[in-house]
Amino acid sequence: MNGENRLNAKAKALKQGAIRAMFDKARTMDNVISMGIGEPDLATPAPICDACAEALQKGFTHYPPNAGLPMLREAVSKYGLPEPGLYAPNEIMITNGAMNALSLLMNILLEPGDHVMIQDPQWLNYASQIEYYGGIADKVPTDPEADFALRAETIRKYYIPGKTKALMINSPNNPTGHLMTRKELEDIAALAQELDLLVISDEVYNTLIFEDGEVLSIATLPGMRERTIVVNSFSKSYAMCGWRVGYAAGPEAIIDRMAKCQENFISGVNAAAQYAAAYALEHKELTVELTETFRRRREVAIAELKKIPGMKFTEPKGAFYLFPDVTAFGLDSKTFCDRLLDEQHVVCIPGSAFGSVGEGHIRIAYTATEEDIIEAMRRIKEFCAKL
Ligand SMILES: Cc1ncc(COP(=O)(O)O)c(C=O)c1O
Repeated sequence: MNGENRLNAKAKALKQGAIRAMFDKARTMDNVISMGIGEPDLATPAPICDACAEALQKGFTHYPPNAGLPMLREAVSKYGLPEPGLYAPNEIMITNGAMNALSLLMNILLEPGDHVMIQDPQWLNYASQIEYYGGIADKVPTDPEADFALRAETIRKYYIPGKTKALMINSPNNPTGHLMTRKELEDIAALAQELDLLVISDEVYNTLIFEDGEVLSIATLPGMRERTIVVNSFSKSYAMCGWRVGYAAGPEAIIDRMAKCQENFISGVNAAAQYAAAYALEHKELTVELTETFRRRREVAIAELKKIPGMKFTEPKGAFYLFPDVTAFGLDSKTFCDRLLDEQHVVCIPGSAFGSVGEGHIRIAYTATEEDIIEAMRRIKEFCAKL
């Protein structure tokens, strides 16, 4: 009588993600350097924490509205969208991180058996959420030879008339760091209009763009505003992962239903955290230091990775990930990462965890100090030399 027999089929099928499993193992070991975690290791800027304390003093201690505090919806409309005012406050919903925005969307959009197209490789949780809500995730292969670009003609092959409900895109991308180009986005936008597709654009890494990368959202392209839902969050841009504040912006009918759905599960998002998030958006300069820190780390990580013979990789322009091809070392990506952890105490994530196109690669998150990045790369080099 351990309760297992009382669970429904969906709950029984739930599995622990591959990333968590690696961390659980690492926790039992000494002197581990983690290049595995998709979270800034930096603290939230102090003024944002002060704003939260102020909110509590001011009495932001009550249930907030389901769609979010009006002050934050307004701040998102002005400062948190690809273009100021692209969506009005009533077209914006505040959520518990981007994850809650994505899961709410799946909850209100999908009928059992509906299909949603996602990129391969892609962040693990997309497919799990789609499947949990009865949908089918169609993994559209990106092109590893072209920096993991997503091509409109490939999307077309996966589109099933009458069954495909939406296309989810994520740029800059987790796990590849790929920043979609204007041409890529324009081609996808044209296809979305031709096929009457809804596009969910996850832009949580859009302040982490390097070199000459252009910050561009598909929602700003002609004819796309009304068929795009932009999802974003404070987690990566302001080092606020633990605050759990994010948002979705899109057509009012969809946003309105998300809020109604939220009412049944979570009565809104922590009010003081929302107040602090509004402060953060009004002080966008607070993202600059974090972006600069990652710019330097990216350079260090790339320079060190180049010193490893046989390691093949491009230099992605976004997020805080490198996604090198490790096939030259003769191990599949899971074995490579398991042995790297066992033998050198470095955590990297196997590319296969993100989809079959990810196999042969490992995800290296440069969310560690420069010193740790250098030491981790030294260990990876030593490991590769043994293979
Ligand atoms: C692509 C992508 N989307 C969404 C999220 C979740 O963000 P949040 O912390 O806002 O829920 C992550 C977190 O790693 C991510 O990589």
